[in-house]
Amino acid sequence: MNRNLALEFVRVTEMAAIASARLMGRGDEKAADKAAVDAMRSMLDSVECDATVVIGEGERDEAPMLFIGEKVGTGTGTKLEIAVDPLEGTTICARGGYNSISVMAIGEKGNLMHAPDTYMDKIAVGPEAKGVIDIRKSATENLKRIAEAKKCRLQDLTAIVLDRPRHHDLINELRQTGCRIHLIGDGDVSAAIATALPDSGIDVLFGIGAAPEGVISAAALRCLGGDFQGVLKPRNDDEIARAKKMGIDDINKVFSMEELASGNVMFVATGVTDGSLLEGVKFKSWGATTHSLVMRSQSGTIRKIEAEHHFDKKPRY
Ligand code: FBP
Repeated sequence: MNRNLALEFVRVTEMAAIASARLMGRGDEKAADKAAVDAMRSMLDSVECDATVVIGEGERDEAPMLFIGEKVGTGTGTKLEIAVDPLEGTTICARGGYNSISVMAIGEKGNLMHAPDTYMDKIAVGPEAKGVIDIRKSATENLKRIAEAKKCRLQDLTAIVLDRPRHHDLINELRQTGCRIHLIGDGDVSAAIATALPDSGIDVLFGIGAAPEGVISAAALRCLGGDFQGVLKPRNDDEIARAKKMGIDDINKVFSMEELASGNVMFVATGVTDGSLLEGVKFKSWGATTHSLVMRSQSGTIRKIEAEHHFDKKPRY
């Protein structure tokens, strides 16, 4: 995969972030998401590649753009598969909260799992705890292993968890271990990435979130040298049928990070609202500034890109 493509794709998330950031705090999740989708879709066609959306806004009949199977890019050059989340954290953006991002994972054909639109139980850690986690074991057991790998006490670890009623028992268990807990309203892609950033203060992500976001998180952690495991958690028979249609016969299978995102993968993200991972879009009299993250699994290079967008020179904005 041409490494320069990563820098082409960051233009795509920058554009989506700027478009949705205009609608920050308006209380309209759909409008913010639509702005990001429209911008991402139009910008993608300027990237020289022959890409297929494998994770996007839904099935063809439910999403007008960025639907699963849609062809994007110029149609020439490298054959790619892309997983997109034009606005990860729609509620965050609509409320003007922290940590909404525009995000994409890119792989060569066959590298990204085609995840159904259902839930996934997830565990994510950074490089120091790579290889010690096992989602089939209890959270307590995993914390013990992570503490041992990181040569610290269990009480020194911080777990990040989506604040949802379904995590009632998990949160109680975590509280009993004595570890610190960071409960978040939304955005488990940023949360998974935080586990691999040395200064984030986050050691592990536990809990159930969206499956497509699980694949995107796995791609990010591949680039960061961390670890991730996921198990699908369908909510009904329809979702089980959909997973089977997508080739997943064993619904209880534990997917490793490499099964979710294999081979050479790239990850790009741009902050929409301010967050611990990335600063959000700031509008100026002349345009806007953006902060993005660009990573490749092959080189392990992590680039942070701060960009100034001068709107008088960019008619698209
Ligand atoms: P959206 O941007 O699609 O709203 O996703 C936000 C998010 O918090 C994800 O990060 C997470 O995986 C998922 O929602 C959790 O789903 P739910 O809100 O149904 O618990």
